[in-house]
Amino acid sequence: MNTFLQYNPTRLLFGENQIEQLPEELGEKNLKVLVIYGGGSIKKNGVYDNVMRELNKAEATVFELSGVEPNPRLTTVQRGVDICKSEGIDFLLAVGGGSVIDCTKAIAIGAKYDGDPWDLITQKAPIEAALPIGTVLTLAATGSEMNNVSVISNWETKDKLGWGSPLVYPKFSVLDPTYTYSVPENQTIYGIVDSMSHALEHYFHRTNNTPMIDGFIESLLRTAIETGPKLLEDLQSFKHRETMMYISTTAFNGTLMNGTDGGDWATHRIEHAISAIYDIPHGGGLAILFPNWLEHVLEDDPSRVKQLAVNVFGIDDTGKSDREVAKEGAQALRSFWNSLGAPSRLADYEIDDQEFDAIVEKTFIKPGVGTYKELDPENVRDILERSK
Ligand code: NZQ
Ligand code: ZN
Repeated sequence: MNTFLQYNPTRLLFGENQIEQLPEELGEKNLKVLVIYGGGSIKKNGVYDNVMRELNKAEATVFELSGVEPNPRLTTVQRGVDICKSEGIDFLLAVGGGSVIDCTKAIAIGAKYDGDPWDLITQKAPIEAALPIGTVLTLAATGSEMNNVSVISNWETKDKLGWGSPLVYPKFSVLDPTYTYSVPENQTIYGIVDSMSHALEHYFHRTNNTPMIDGFIESLLRTAIETGPKLLEDLQSFKHRETMMYISTTAFNGTLMNGTDGGDWATHRIEHAISAIYDIPHGGGLAILFPNWLEHVLEDDPSRVKQLAVNVFGIDDTGKSDREVAKEGAQALRSFWNSLGAPSRLADYEIDDQEFDAIVEKTFIKPGVGTYKELDPENVRDILERSK
């Protein structure tokens, strides 16, 4: 194992009715709170009313920013920053999925900066301060509720960039599985794929002697494989919703990096480049790319994909070469996601090879793509070709 520091300051309030802790979590009464949400799902499922009731108890002065889009945009971040500056907002409360939370993180840093928030996201200017944020999660997928990462799209430049800062860990996150009952089937599928992809990307590290973390990741993946289909059979099942919610948060809150080199996030880099151009759902893009990334890397080194095949998918390796077993593993992942109803080809989103040059270029917007296997532009193109 590598030396490591484990640090995560987010207070997680997990379970039914945990929203009732909100006034205490805010810490003070009479705060000016900006509530940030998406296209309106929280008004249909009652979450908005619950949040407002608790903010009322905290005697907060409430401001609202609605309409945060999936794949949140810089223009929306700017709208939030403007409200923070003009109203002197004390606290940001994100109520939604990863997009709302990511947008809130960007507003938090933008509110404390005099220039364009894109300067901070592109690291042209250092992030020195942020407003405090809390979250009420309504969709199990990204892990943004317990990490310091955010992904913002700039439609002027057609860039979708991930960034992070220790200043944007949520102070607290409320995770009530009943708030995810209304998540439609397609978003539930994308959430399962995204969570599993985060676990898989952690798994592809090159650090020696990591049996504890490897076993933890394998267990998380097996649980997702067991739970996913049952949840899709019954979208209102408390037990399956709570399992998936815990999986998605754990899959990207830092725990799975303990003692490793952090894993290989090349698939996320390629997916972000695709959705910068085509605005497709993040989980849908990953479902297409990940099995093809596995097939690409196993050609050089099948060992880790083989371990995944045997320990997660239960593939019998008797009398087979490592490469054969690894290939069966990649195919098993593809088949599992397809059986849930996830897409498997770029053509499913009517994406052809026309923009492959631009996707490759955007993948390398920051240097260094991949660590388990460091990809060059030709490798990325190969993965895209396999994904057609
Ligand atoms: O906008 P509303 O009306 O709320 O509807 C949303 C949205 O249309 C809907 N939804 C959310 N909760 C719901 C619900 N519908 C009914 N009932 C509920 N309870 O779901 C749709 C998608 O929401 P979104 O927040 O976009 O989904 P997700 O959580 O998958 O977030 C995706 C974004 O997060 C980024 C992705 O790139 C993408 O931009 N990521 C963020 C990460 C992070 N911060 O750590 C890591 C991830 O790898 C990812 O890249
Ligand atoms: Zn993701």
